Amino acid sequence: MSALSGSPAERTDVLVVGAGIAGLTAALEAARTRSVVLVTKTSLGDGSTHYAQGGIAVASGRDDVAAHVADTLAAGAGLAVPAAVQALCAAGPEAVRVLAERGVAFDRGDDGHWSLGLEAAHSRPRILHVDGDRTGAAISAALSAAVRRSDVDVREQAFLADLVVEDGRVVGADVLLPGPDGRDVRRRFLASAVVLATGGAGQLFSRTTNPAVATADGLAAAWRAGADVSDLEMYQFHPTAAALPRPFLVSEAVRGEGAVLLDATGHRFMPDVDPRAELAPRDVVARAIAAAMGRTGGRPVLLDATGVSARLGTPFAQRFPGISALCREQGLDPETDPVPVTPAAHYWMGGVRTDAAGRTSLPGLWAAGEVACTGVHGANRLASNSLLEALVTGGRVVADLDADGPPAQPGPDEDVRTVAGPAATVAAHLPRRDLQAALWEHTGLVREAAGLAVATKLLTPEEEPVTLDAAAEVHRGTREDANLLLAGQLLVTAATAREDSLGAHHRSDHPAPPRAARRLTLRRTPC
Ligand code: SIN
Repeated sequence: MSALSGSPAERTDVLVVGAGIAGLTAALEAARTRSVVLVTKTSLGDGSTHYAQGGIAVASGRDDVAAHVADTLAAGAGLAVPAAVQALCAAGPEAVRVLAERGVAFDRGDDGHWSLGLEAAHSRPRILHVDGDRTGAAISAALSAAVRRSDVDVREQAFLADLVVEDGRVVGADVLLPGPDGRDVRRRFLASAVVLATGGAGQLFSRTTNPAVATADGLAAAWRAGADVSDLEMYQFHPTAAALPRPFLVSEAVRGEGAVLLDATGHRFMPDVDPRAELAPRDVVARAIAAAMGRTGGRPVLLDATGVSARLGTPFAQRFPGISALCREQGLDPETDPVPVTPAAHYWMGGVRTDAAGRTSLPGLWAAGEVACTGVHGANRLASNSLLEALVTGGRVVADLDADGPPAQPGPDEDVRTVAGPAATVAAHLPRRDLQAALWEHTGLVREAAGLAVATKLLTPEEEPVTLDAAAEVHRGTREDANLLLAGQLLVTAATAREDSLGAHHRSDHPAPPRAARRLTLRRTPC
């Protein structure tokens, strides 16, 4: 599809961009008192939320809030913002109760209570799940249905081209909508508040658990508009994506139920690496897998779940029906066959910098979910905290709209770097595949200065890049490529700037952690 010239602006109180758990929640909350337009580039519920398997982490009772906070801070490796973590964990139980009221039927045990799963780096079981491993799909379906029943004005196949900024305030967005002849028409939506909930950017890397829509569109638009972005060097790689012709996520919950990791020679290597073995924090397990693969010529490691059924007293396929089906489609039965797995890009802890209420550095713009960086995840997100954060922040941004207070600003203990960049979209000079390969190789699980310099060179155009006018005819894929390139450049800039190792950011040339972990914020200056 391509973008053609514009049509008159539409007005609404709140414009929500994105339709995962954060966007759907924000839209539902805002629609109680305001007019809401929700735009999404594909269909309702068609983002990363749908693919979440493990579930949603939530304190299992009042006495568990402090432990949930402690686990989140420990996983965050000193970079997570304690006040934001406290606020998130304390708000969890009520937010989840509302989610259940909206139709999410969490699995229950024989005693009738919600059954709680265990995942890595959680000190106790506190992961709610639906249909075993189909939690995200169930949440997406329930919230999408609630939005369709509500007064929210939903526009699907609506691609965010850019945010509209007037006198330093975000006042709306330019969106591409399919016109009557199938070609895109640009439409301006003006709003008192814009909520970005566009998700992540797994398509930056050659290996990812993310769906095709995860192309950094929201982050790139916010950067062009002048919003601060933080902690972009902190990209989480999930330890276990199936290394099969059609890859997919194999939930950490499988290890939580007792599956073990074997290298290609059959050796169980995690106990050699960390006393928590397979349930060590995600960054530790992912790097240990990469090292084990390195020792065996790059062969994937094996996730051996053959003991899980006996341990659970229930067939594997009953606890993990989705994973079981995906394996069987490719000729493996996890009841009897170890599954080859490899790390893959999974979740961006960094993003558009916000405070705990989702307020960005630009008046008029809020952000929630993976596109945002509230500081909750620090240098390494605790498993299943992302759905919780998106849920809680999706609601919180709406509570904050009335306040419309001062923009969020980095604190004095944060490192702020300015980076020159254009306010308009510029075309990518290299194919997406080359970008993905470069980022996987040089900004993946282990980084070092020489590789980052190679990535910088590859990602820097040699000639003046072409500006993609919002009104010009441009294929959506071309805009996604431009957004990915911009996001990749910012990721490389942040990874180069942080000369220490912390959580997911591991520099082989600077392996030591910093004396004190400081957040890193990038700020655009016009070039
Ligand atoms: C998983 O099920 O392992 C993924 C959950 C998450 O990323 O939090």
